Amino acid sequence: MVNVVFDKVQKVFGPVVAIPDLNLEIASGEFVSLLGPSGCGKTTTLRMLAGLEQPTGGQIRIGERPVNNVAPGERDIAMVFQSYALYPHMSVSQNIAYPLKKRGVPKSEHPARIKAVSDLLQLGPLLERKPKQLSGGQQQRVALGRALVRDPKVFLLDEPLSNLDAKLRAHMRSELIELHRRLGRTMVYVTHDQLEAMTMSTRIAVMHGGNLQQFGTPSEIYNRPVNTFVASFIGTPSMTLVEAELLAENGLKLKLGSTLFDIPEALLARRPSGTSRITLGIRPENIILGSGDGTATIRLVEPTGHESIVTLDIDGRQAIVRAAGDTPLRSGETVHFDLRRDRLHFFDHGSGQRLNSDTQA
Ligand SMILES: Nc1ncnc2c1ncn2[C@@H]1O[C@H](COP(=O)(O)OP(=O)(O)OP(=O)(O)O)[C@@H](O)[C@H]1O
Ligand SMILES: [Mg+2]
Repeated sequence: MVNVVFDKVQKVFGPVVAIPDLNLEIASGEFVSLLGPSGCGKTTTLRMLAGLEQPTGGQIRIGERPVNNVAPGERDIAMVFQSYALYPHMSVSQNIAYPLKKRGVPKSEHPARIKAVSDLLQLGPLLERKPKQLSGGQQQRVALGRALVRDPKVFLLDEPLSNLDAKLRAHMRSELIELHRRLGRTMVYVTHDQLEAMTMSTRIAVMHGGNLQQFGTPSEIYNRPVNTFVASFIGTPSMTLVEAELLAENGLKLKLGSTLFDIPEALLARRPSGTSRITLGIRPENIILGSGDGTATIRLVEPTGHESIVTLDIDGRQAIVRAAGDTPLRSGETVHFDLRRDRLHFFDHGSGQRLNSDTQA
């Protein structure tokens, strides 16, 4: 098993600075997702690791070995692309064997290696079929098999599930988790789908505009987002971000609209002086409807079955709340609400940086 290090890595395409300065250390055996919106530099990062792009500056190391000048074929990595790129005229078994053939692995070894991979991915009954005789999910498994057959040290996957329907994606997610558990290989996975990143990763690298925003476990990213970008990017429905005030008078108070809520001072890293304007982050599960000092008007109730997504208007500020699927609430009604104090997120109004006391340096 090997680790992967991006050390002050920069990538410039002509006038476009795709990656200004990336520092990222992926531990051996991790499943790390590069997560962020379109154009944030995920594929560029992965392609530099694969050797398909040359960094403009800095160093990439795989297992302590600098690889900037190492050809893709010499890096002991395998990459699975979004388009499976299977050879249509070859059978499944020939597709899987192709990397072995290309690398001059003796033919006598092929059957055992193909069998190991096809057992792992349950491709046994499909080995003689051509790609066009397979479903999307089966084709995806063959593409994975082709990457696995060489037993590389690091797997790189660029949005490998994006062509699949929702049900198949969920299925492949659990297969990939299981695969990672069994192989214990370092995997780097590119996605813009936060659910994929949250469910599969040991750690998530959230990127925005070429810059790494936060690198942490799914729980850290969800519970302690370092800034408003990470806060709003992770979670469905999204975290509500609203302007509010902190008042340090008789103890600490949060003023949201016209309501004052008592806030334990221990929640904040620094005690604000006087009144300070902040951005308050509230996840939909942390507003309690039906009791409390807050009052809001219900704007919209969207039942999804097991829960309803309720849009509140709090003195002109919109907030999203989860409620029971069979909630009796109706739009236009006035409702009392409370906030789970220890679950609130406080951000600097200007910079968007986290102000909670759990903020790590
Ligand atoms: N060959 C290139 N020439 C010029 N600009 C490029 C090139 N490749 C990427 N870029 C730019 O670099 C930035 C990052 O692109 P990249 O493909 O890494 O994004 P991404 O995060 O993978 O996005 P997506 O989710 O849409 O795949 C974008 O602004 C893109 O336009
Ligand atoms: Mg991409």
